[in-house]
Amino acid sequence: MIITIDGPAGVGKSTVAKLLAARLGFLYLDTGALYRAVAWKVLKAGISPTDQERIKTLLGTTSLEIQFHNSAMRVLIDGRDVTSELRTPEVSATASHVSAIPAVREWLLPIQRQVGERGSVVAEGRDIGTTIFPTATLKFFLDADARVRAERRHRELVAAGHVGAIETTYRDLSRRDTQDRTRSIAPLVPAADARSIDTSNLDVEQVVEQMLAVVSAVL
Ligand code: DC
Repeated sequence: MIITIDGPAGVGKSTVAKLLAARLGFLYLDTGALYRAVAWKVLKAGISPTDQERIKTLLGTTSLEIQFHNSAMRVLIDGRDVTSELRTPEVSATASHVSAIPAVREWLLPIQRQVGERGSVVAEGRDIGTTIFPTATLKFFLDADARVRAERRHRELVAAGHVGAIETTYRDLSRRDTQDRTRSIAPLVPAADARSIDTSNLDVEQVVEQMLAVVSAVL
């Protein structure tokens, strides 16, 4: 069984997806981490995040492995576990650029689909219900006011030890939103058969409860 959760940055997808997966005993696939891992390598290689040709060449000599430890997902790039290095503002900005490159999306497509063959999955990202798992059993699209999302993302960053103004987080998030929603390849849009949930005034537990109610109606 595959459950997809798509939505913009800072909407709470990761937290909700992780919890839902744990409650159901499913694997949790964070696809943003895969784009971030590619971005991490692009940054390390000193390549411009918009240099499509060099990034395509780079992917030719790159290996990416997804491991599940209990239900937590780890990402290994060329054998190195980079999971804890993926959530910095620099990697976020680069990931948004590299995710607009068709060769990157093509390269990550089979890697994502293979996880669906390992067992039941809760997969979250931007194009999961539309492109990666179009025949998923259940699809959710989460959205929330941009200010609310910036506050959530800011709290996450502060908790991880990053310093910076909330206005900067808001600007970065709005810029990424525009990039993610308007790119020509796999833009962020709800799948026609996705159930939308506005999380602006809901806490994590309330969102998960709503989802579980839908899951039990389907099972
Ligand atoms: O969800 P996230 O913030 O970790 O995602 C990082 C970037 O990757 C974000 O700018 C959008 C992109 N992304 C994507 O294009 N498609 C996905 N399925 C997941 C993430």
